[in-house]
Amino acid sequence: MSSHPPRVFSGVQPTGNLHLGNYLGAITRFVTLQDSHDCIYCVVDLHAITLWQDPKELTHNIREVTAAFLAAGIDADKHIVFNQSQVSAHAELAWVFNCVARMGWLNRMTQFKEKAGKHKENASVGLFSYPNLMAADILAYRATHVPVGEDQKQHLELSRDIAQKFNTDFAESIAANGHQGGFFPLPEPLITGPATRVMSLRDGSKKMSKSDPSDYSRINLTDDQDMIAKKIRKARTDPEPLPSETAGFEGRPEAANLVGIYAALAGKSHEEVLHDFGGQQFSVFKPALAELAAETLGPISTEMKKLMAAPDHIDDILRAGAARARAIAAPIFDDVRRIIGFVS
Ligand code: AMP
Ligand code: TRP
Repeated sequence: MSSHPPRVFSGVQPTGNLHLGNYLGAITRFVTLQDSHDCIYCVVDLHAITLWQDPKELTHNIREVTAAFLAAGIDADKHIVFNQSQVSAHAELAWVFNCVARMGWLNRMTQFKEKAGKHKENASVGLFSYPNLMAADILAYRATHVPVGEDQKQHLELSRDIAQKFNTDFAESIAANGHQGGFFPLPEPLITGPATRVMSLRDGSKKMSKSDPSDYSRINLTDDQDMIAKKIRKARTDPEPLPSETAGFEGRPEAANLVGIYAALAGKSHEEVLHDFGGQQFSVFKPALAELAAETLGPISTEMKKLMAAPDHIDDILRAGAARARAIAAPIFDDVRRIIGFVS
């Protein structure tokens, strides 16, 4: 076993409509990990263009994800916040990993199948090799821990497979270049808490998603308090009162989802929320949830608006973060060059 110092890395795509799922499944967790780890948080703009993006909107969305990070409480002085395209090691290492990962591995990725839909032949090559770039993001810094939502679990497993195969394929050269143990750590997913998979407010069987055509399916981080309350009021439910125990969620995905959201926002467990609301009607629970959501998210959307009014300031933060990220990634990629046998 190798002993890699702990380092957290995660990324969010700047593809618009940042929502409560992104916030509870990822961004709040980023904030928590700051106290215990060195963290690198990346706005993954190279990933965004695997589907066509309008250039002006892309620019706006890169700044908006950055604003969401900062508004949620990420400290860009203590930790690193930047956008992926500013650090060339991501694309360079992704190329190496294109040559390490196997077609068969990528063919199993469910996110590609979902995103490519019926027209696989028309999908970009980038959409197919997307997970290799994700592995490169993490391993460019030899990061050990990756906080993500449940939907990224398979991609993280692939990152581990890639790290493992690189370590094995180049074992001799890695040792000859003076590295003990594996060169890359096998990054661990951190998928924990009551809201690792927030579901659509309109359909409890579908994930809350940026691309759902119905805006009422999600709570956007840019929604104001009235809009948040309205969306929760309109959220789909069933006619039964809330159960007193989690076993009662069986066959009731909408109830489970709203209780999960409440639990995550309140920093409680499902059980604790059911202890307070079990047996109550949605007409009682929904206003309580709306108030809690508005209280928690309202200040974030206000702060995001403030930050977005000063785009130069955001760009400065990204530039400074990129310089610090480069300083970590460049020597690691120099090692990769030597390990592979490139002349430089
Ligand atoms: P993306 O917007 O696809 O870049 O996702 C950014 C982060 O949010 C990733 O860690 C995702 O796993 C997480 N995420 C996205 N949608 C959800 C959801 N509905 N519930 C929980 N986490 C989510
Ligand atoms: N694929 C992730 C998503 O869609 C975003 C991402 C890109 C990421 N690179 C990453 C997450 C590296 C964690 C680590 O949500």
